[in-house]
Amino acid sequence: MTQTRGYKVAVLGAAGGIGQPCGLLMKMNPLVTELSLYDIAGTPGVAADVSHINTAAQVKGYAGDAELGAALKDADLVIIPAGVPRKPGMTREDLFKINAGIVAGLTEACATHCPNAMINMISNPVNSTVPIAAEVLKKRGAYDPKKLFGVTTLDVVRAKTFYAEKNGLETAKVDVPVVGGHAGITILPLLSQATPKAEMDAATIEALTKRTQDGGTEVVAAKAGKGSATLSMAYAGAVFADSCLRAKNGEAGVVECTYVESNVTDARFFASKVTLGKEGVETIHGLGELTPYEKAGLDGMMAELNDSINKGVEFAKAL
Ligand code: NAI
Repeated sequence: MTQTRGYKVAVLGAAGGIGQPCGLLMKMNPLVTELSLYDIAGTPGVAADVSHINTAAQVKGYAGDAELGAALKDADLVIIPAGVPRKPGMTREDLFKINAGIVAGLTEACATHCPNAMINMISNPVNSTVPIAAEVLKKRGAYDPKKLFGVTTLDVVRAKTFYAEKNGLETAKVDVPVVGGHAGITILPLLSQATPKAEMDAATIEALTKRTQDGGTEVVAAKAGKGSATLSMAYAGAVFADSCLRAKNGEAGVVECTYVESNVTDARFFASKVTLGKEGVETIHGLGELTPYEKAGLDGMMAELNDSINKGVEFAKAL
């Protein structure tokens, strides 16, 4: 469990709504010795600001294509929240046209400059951006399915908060697995497996499930055109990145729900509980026993999830 070494973490999209607080939180992580903040513009200012915090990580800002290689060089972990967020009326799928190209370009650079890095993909639509990244890395001979993660931690964070609130439980002690993907009905909280266990009627379970699925839309509507979740996402991204770093550092038993290449269902990529290890994914856990309501949710998502996966794969193959 002791720290063997520090790690280089790169945040791509570091001047954005998620990137800035995510950089701040990674600066506070004791396992980070080098923090690389990359964006197309604006990162010198963000890096100067964050660098004044008196923690160990050395912060450097990199702006524009010409500096991407240096930003990524030998990074251990790359967090990608680059791209456009949703506006009211948009689904995550609507972001595909813009974000697919951004993610492909950044992943390609990872293959060149840090082929052994763990990649934490935040850019939406995650259901497609992870398959895009996988195909791009594969083309470059740098794909290790154990090291590519779609970050679905915000769904878990939301499910925990809503479940705790509804049942009067201490939020910090609550756990709720969330499986599937990261868009609408593909987000499936397994409330029957939530701990501590609370008795809930069918209507409450349905309301909590829908609120978790629509959590992102709740924020998009409240921000009224000014973007989507940034602060809670930065928190969730930092939690997931910290889990990856702790596992890399030798801590045993680190478990997170995350969207990875998987055999749990017939979808090639699927989010479920994963035990993380030094080399990334160690064990992908099955779904456990599902209630009829959860089973129906699982069956109901598969067509959409597979479509989003195929869309990503086809996009990357056509590049
Ligand atoms: P934002 O617009 O505030 O920031 C995005 C940043 O990416 C900007 O600073 C922009 O300059 C940068 N960027 C664009 N192209 C780039 C490139 N080629 N290389 C590097 N940086 C580039 O957006 P925000 O709110 O930070 O959201 C970012 C992404 O995260 C969106 O795709 C959003 O949908 C997604 N997201 C994912 C969540 C999840 O649970 N996985 C939750 C919330 C948002």
